Amino acid sequence: MAKVYTFANQKGGVGKTTTVISIGAFLSAQGRSVLVVDMDPQANATSSLGLDKHREDTTVYHALIEKAPVAKIIKTTSRPRLHVVPSSPILAGAEVELVGMFAREMLLQKALAPVLRHYDYVLVDTPPSLGLLTVNALTAADDGVIIPVQCEYLALEGLGQLVHTINLVRENLNPRLAIAGVVLTMFDTRTRLSQEVADEVRRYFPKQVFKTVIPRNVRLSEAPSFGETILTYSPGSAGALAYAALTDELLAREK
Ligand SMILES: Nc1ncnc2c1ncn2[C@@H]1O[C@H](COP(=O)(O)OP(=O)(O)OP(=O)(O)O)[C@@H](O)[C@H]1O
Ligand SMILES: [Mg+2]
Repeated sequence: MAKVYTFANQKGGVGKTTTVISIGAFLSAQGRSVLVVDMDPQANATSSLGLDKHREDTTVYHALIEKAPVAKIIKTTSRPRLHVVPSSPILAGAEVELVGMFAREMLLQKALAPVLRHYDYVLVDTPPSLGLLTVNALTAADDGVIIPVQCEYLALEGLGQLVHTINLVRENLNPRLAIAGVVLTMFDTRTRLSQEVADEVRRYFPKQVFKTVIPRNVRLSEAPSFGETILTYSPGSAGALAYAALTDELLAREK
């Protein structure tokens, strides 16, 4: 059965998608089979994996709203053992359409259940909001939520709200939901601010912050426009080395 992790932070641009696809790539390189589930209408994980978000006819929207079987929606990527349930801009409508649906918070969990036995890992990317799409992703996250935090001014702002939402989902929808990790992203070694933020986040989440810190690295921001993960785009870059180390740390934590 797959381990299911959801990557969430309602703040935009903190490195959720980059972390999902990079960890996905390194897990697949280590022989694990990985399914990335794109729950963001921006569909950045979809396009970062080389798919055209405007040309996918069946997407996670169809699984959630029209009950299409996920097995028929899964797409392969250029990397072996790395598959994706794509998103597209129409998913934005689901946020409203879900409101009137029965068991509306559990639709993703239900949709994924039949394919979990085909994968070692399911990694769910979420939009920068705490709406029903993110709540569905948290409800499906049997092995926990991983929170990327950008090492920038006001990094901690909003984390209280996120933790509150995680607690509500744990109490009402998914008793297994834990904070499986906190990833410090876009760390800039040249600024004192990055170090200060990192220290502050470690005080806030004393146990959960990964030792591995992801540096700000231009290669990481270039890779998506080539539809490639950092593993093939620039395997020797500081960004690739950091995500390789983070993947190892996640695997070690699971033991
Ligand atoms: N470590 C890094 N160094 C440099 N650029 C990065 C790094 N991590 C991510 N980026 C870039 O920063 C931008 C935001 O990253 P990303 O898309 O992963 O964040 P996100 O949290 O998924 O954003 P959103 O909330 O919009 O979904 C992207 O352009 C990405 O390529
Ligand atoms: Mg994203």
